[in-house]
Amino acid sequence: MSTTRLVTTEDGLRLTVEEHGDPARPCVVCVHGYPDDRSLWNGVVARLSDRYHVVTYDVRGAGSSDTPTDRAGYRLHHLTDDLVRVVDAVSPGKGAHLLAHDWGSIQAWHTVTDRAVEGRIHSLTSISGPHLHHVAHWTRQRLRLPTPRRLSELLRQLSRSGYIGFFRLPHLPELAWRSGLLPVLMGRLDASARDRRPRVSDAVSGLGLYRANMSAGGGGTHGIHTTVPVQVLAPTRDAFVTPALQGELPPGVPGPRVRRVTGGHWLPARCPELVARRTAEFVDGLEGEPRHVPDTREKGRFADVLVVVTGAGSGIGRATALAFAAQGARVVAADVDGAAASETARRAPTAGRVTAYTVDVSDGEAMHRFAEDVQRDHGTPDVVVNNAGIGLTGPLLDTDEADLRGVFDTNLWGVVHGCRAFAPRMIERGEVGRIVNISSAAAHIPLPGLTAYSAAKAAVSALSERLDGELAEHDITVSAVLPGIVNTAIPASTRFVGGTPAERRRRRRRAAGLYRLRGLQPDRVAAAVLRVVEHPTPVTTVGFEAKAGLLLSRLLPGPLRRLAATGPRVR
Ligand SMILES: NC(=O)c1ccc[n+]([C@@H]2O[C@H](COP(=O)([O-])OP(=O)(O)OC[C@H]3O[C@@H](n4cnc5c(N)ncnc54)[C@H](O)[C@@H]3O)[C@@H](O)[C@H]2O)c1
Repeated sequence: MSTTRLVTTEDGLRLTVEEHGDPARPCVVCVHGYPDDRSLWNGVVARLSDRYHVVTYDVRGAGSSDTPTDRAGYRLHHLTDDLVRVVDAVSPGKGAHLLAHDWGSIQAWHTVTDRAVEGRIHSLTSISGPHLHHVAHWTRQRLRLPTPRRLSELLRQLSRSGYIGFFRLPHLPELAWRSGLLPVLMGRLDASARDRRPRVSDAVSGLGLYRANMSAGGGGTHGIHTTVPVQVLAPTRDAFVTPALQGELPPGVPGPRVRRVTGGHWLPARCPELVARRTAEFVDGLEGEPRHVPDTREKGRFADVLVVVTGAGSGIGRATALAFAAQGARVVAADVDGAAASETARRAPTAGRVTAYTVDVSDGEAMHRFAEDVQRDHGTPDVVVNNAGIGLTGPLLDTDEADLRGVFDTNLWGVVHGCRAFAPRMIERGEVGRIVNISSAAAHIPLPGLTAYSAAKAAVSALSERLDGELAEHDITVSAVLPGIVNTAIPASTRFVGGTPAERRRRRRRAAGLYRLRGLQPDRVAAAVLRVVEHPTPVTTVGFEAKAGLLLSRLLPGPLRRLAATGPRVR
């Protein structure tokens, strides 16, 4: 059931406002962009109106609202004033949460950064529409400090903003809309626009938005201060606003959480389920608590990120779990040794940030049950680090089948199970995900005595590379991290095969000595994992020996093999 009313603006225009759901519930006002009308939100409204008082309206110049008579009527201050009038009309004295897209989001940003509306707007979920001053600031930052990554981000955004210059030209954009060229072009640029047919009259009159507001050249970051918590949903395939621009938020905004979500510019129309779910979570979190969301940047680089680490009871896994936790992530630390996982949880910098689970990664069914438990207790992970592994050294022909199966079951099948248990959930959620598999430099360097171990790790590297391709369309990356010799407990737990018991004891002592002498700490691998999660690369080596070994194995495979056949044993 919905009701419609008209709200009159300060300059006498009538806006058509539609209300859904129980007005006694928390109010969510949805603001559409260009060239859309309030029907953009139909799918979202259908999913939210049983829990909230959901309000949509046609902004000035769109749908069945009145159109300004001149360009000045599209200035941002009119749009923000309209928005506040709608909020006051539908939720008098109570205020509202905003959900806004494209130009709707631009005006919502400018509204929440206006001190005068303090107390009336409780949150903003922003999609594909940054604060205009922030765009100018973001651009200047990249020009001032032009690292290769920042420059490529800037070029990518500039190439996607070209249409703005076109929209400001006289007559031509009108012609392009009327001839039907622009909808076709938009569909080519952004798949989410393909079946959208905006009303030509809305598209033409809405050009006033660009002509009235895009000439000032932006301001500084002054004015980008607000007490209103903001959540940004940044679609990864947006043809007009890059995730890099949306993902970096201005200082002075509390609780900005940026979620990179799989989709194009018209996310609200194409993925209403995802938009409704994330909006509801955000609004519920604020309604349940006093209206304050802590500034996520104060809590670290991975605030609000859920990470699963296997083999987290020792060495690299423990260091990785604690490094993520120190950067604000919620961590699920899993290990076959439950007591060791609990010890990792106990060492967390903040109590409760790391939760211990007992699971054997080599057991496929147990891993699926574990994934179900994680989903139930914490939600879908953003990051999965398949790290659990064991050592095995000795000639392949002297190794019995049980030991061979053991190393493959844990080191390879453990990774397979980890990927298969969590990736479908990450795909279903529709947001960016990261899987990091801990392989080994031994996968690529011929080392004597490590035939089975190296084969399992080489398979992990190959699997990571191929799965990365398979999951690319879902914005889930799969990376392999290849450590060199890292000083952990692994020599103590490695199975040494062949020779007499005394010889095996001696080899174990030698291996432990070598690991200690090399002295590479697991923290280094953990730091590399965190970097890979922020900036995914297919293969990352850790330690000089891993880098040099990988290079040599590519440049001089023959001599390296001969050296391995005759040289000293490494493990
Ligand atoms: N230490 C190194 O030099 C080195 C080098 C390259 C790669 N790696 C790889 O790094 C990963 C971590 O090794 P580490 O050096 O930290 O070893 P570690 O022995 O210190 O830690 C491994 C952890 O994995 C857990 N584990 C073992 N089997 C498991 C199973 N079936 N299910 C769940 N947990 C299990 C262990 O209980 C332990 O807590 C392994 O995959 C290893 O192959 C280590």
